[in-house]
Amino acid sequence: MAGSVIILTGAGISAESGVDTFRDKNGIWSRYDLREVATPEGFTANPALVHAFYNDRRSQLPRVEPNAAHFALAELECLHRGSVLVVTQNIDDLHERAGSKNLIHMHGELAKALCARCGARHEWRGPLSTDLSCPGCGIPGALRPDVVWFGEMPYHMDRIYEALSTCDLFLSIGTSGSVYPAAQFVEEAARAGARTVELNLEPSENVYSFDEAVHGPASKIVPAYVNRILSGGTEV
Ligand code: APR
Repeated sequence: MAGSVIILTGAGISAESGVDTFRDKNGIWSRYDLREVATPEGFTANPALVHAFYNDRRSQLPRVEPNAAHFALAELECLHRGSVLVVTQNIDDLHERAGSKNLIHMHGELAKALCARCGARHEWRGPLSTDLSCPGCGIPGALRPDVVWFGEMPYHMDRIYEALSTCDLFLSIGTSGSVYPAAQFVEEAARAGARTVELNLEPSENVYSFDEAVHGPASKIVPAYVNRILSGGTEV
């Protein structure tokens, strides 16, 4: 069957690539106060601190590589006869670098800058600061990381809900299920009649919302599950 597959990913899919997760032991939110570095109010109060937080994470991108889980999702998109859409909460670029094309970054992208004055988005691999001017409008000090902060609306929600309303298989990979609206996508998919599967290191906060759960490291369980789909072991 050439059914449509939607795959939600979170920080756990990038963990084995060396990218820190948020809520695991020693995770990012155990080291930083998210109100100071991941909210509009935090940016207004101390833009230099917020730029330093994201500059540090952006500078790590060239030092990390996609892992087998990222490559398995790109292979699924390439070989599955139906549609495959990856909706990632991650702001790293590992899905693209593994070859995924049909991809939505609902929380934005570390390698992009957004001008708060003119709304232009720019590919940005280096450090950001308030000293810099927007390459579009030329206004100094208006560039911010193109990242969705707590209290802001995630990107492309209409397209995501539209896809959820017609999907046949929903996979949730490497996410704690603790942040909305992403944590609620499983219910949307189930309402549409999709089969829902959690692939995570350990049971997430909403594991009981899924038809099936497979627990283990993403680099092992995701390629195995993709092979199961491609060999017809999972109806989709
Ligand atoms: N393989 C699979 N899953 C893993 C692995 C691994 N190697 N390592 C960790 N995990 C799982 C953890 O068990 C946890 O359930 O990944 C999940 C990571 O959860 P979080 O750190 O909460 O990250 P995430 O769910 O992506 O957070 C959602 O919160 O802070 C915001 O915007 C941020 O996008 C982020 C959102």
